[in-house]
Amino acid sequence: MTAPPARRVVILGAQSAIAEACARRFAAESASLVIVGRDLGRLNEIANDLAARGAAQVHAAALDLAAEQRPAERFLEWGHRIGGVTHVLIAFGTLGDQTRMESDVDAARLALETNFTAAALWALAAADLFERQRSGVLVAIGSVAGDRGRRSNYVYGAAKAGLGVLMQGIAHRLHHAGDARAVLIKPGLVETPMTGHMDVSGRLWARPEEIAAIIHRAGAKGGPVVYAPARWRWIMLAIRALPAFVMHHTRL
Ligand SMILES: NC(=O)c1ccc[n+]([C@@H]2O[C@H](COP(=O)([O-])OP(=O)(O)OC[C@H]3O[C@@H](n4cnc5c(N)ncnc54)[C@H](OP(=O)(O)O)[C@@H]3O)[C@@H](O)[C@H]2O)c1
Repeated sequence: MTAPPARRVVILGAQSAIAEACARRFAAESASLVIVGRDLGRLNEIANDLAARGAAQVHAAALDLAAEQRPAERFLEWGHRIGGVTHVLIAFGTLGDQTRMESDVDAARLALETNFTAAALWALAAADLFERQRSGVLVAIGSVAGDRGRRSNYVYGAAKAGLGVLMQGIAHRLHHAGDARAVLIKPGLVETPMTGHMDVSGRLWARPEEIAAIIHRAGAKGGPVVYAPARWRWIMLAIRALPAFVMHHTRL
């Protein structure tokens, strides 16, 4: 029996705690990786760790992912370095300060452009590549925050909701492109630097490694929408079903 072809993975936002945990899983199965983030020093540390964990090759690329004008060219360049691209993980994002974003245009723009516009443009470029190849898996990290607007995080949530609709459309499009697939991961509460200012003592909190295992599985099968962990599907079903007159009396 022949072994499955090695994965060749591009991770956008590779410094994220969830992305790093995913990269370790890919490295352990001898994948080749391009890891992209803003801090080359930190990326090189991650690259060394991934090589020690078994990655066939790791290429680190420093880039502001919200400023890149030619995502399609970047995928070609990175594919050239690692012998093609079989998986793309879009992991970068920023939570933003909800209260500040309600009056500070620049803060709101940063969150909207990072979480929606930039993520969407990278997703479209990956979809084009995989449609042409008729193979490849695009995984983007959305959020349960995109399931219902809540006063605590609705700017971030709106951007993630937009990304969710875009990924839904890409999944529909790729259904007609051989083995190409697109999956949206919707994590709930995860202990990472993004949520470092929050009280993480409740039972709903997950560790990045738990989310990484779900993302890794989604790279092989499943989707097009995967809640992480799965309990969030039912929690958000209940939250979406709350009538406004009840919702508006909550502190959610
Ligand atoms: N933690 C949660 O509870 C939770 C829940 C649902 C969804 N998510 C999503 O999960 C994904 C990963 O987040 P995380 O929880 O792992 O948080 P994290 O460790 O804070 O990672 C977020 C990463 O995004 C990077 N980033 C932001 N803007 C960027 C840009 N313009 N160019 C390059 N990199 C950029 C940050 O890089 P810098 O270090 O350079 O700022 C940071 O490494 C995000 O999409 C987030 O929205 C998280």
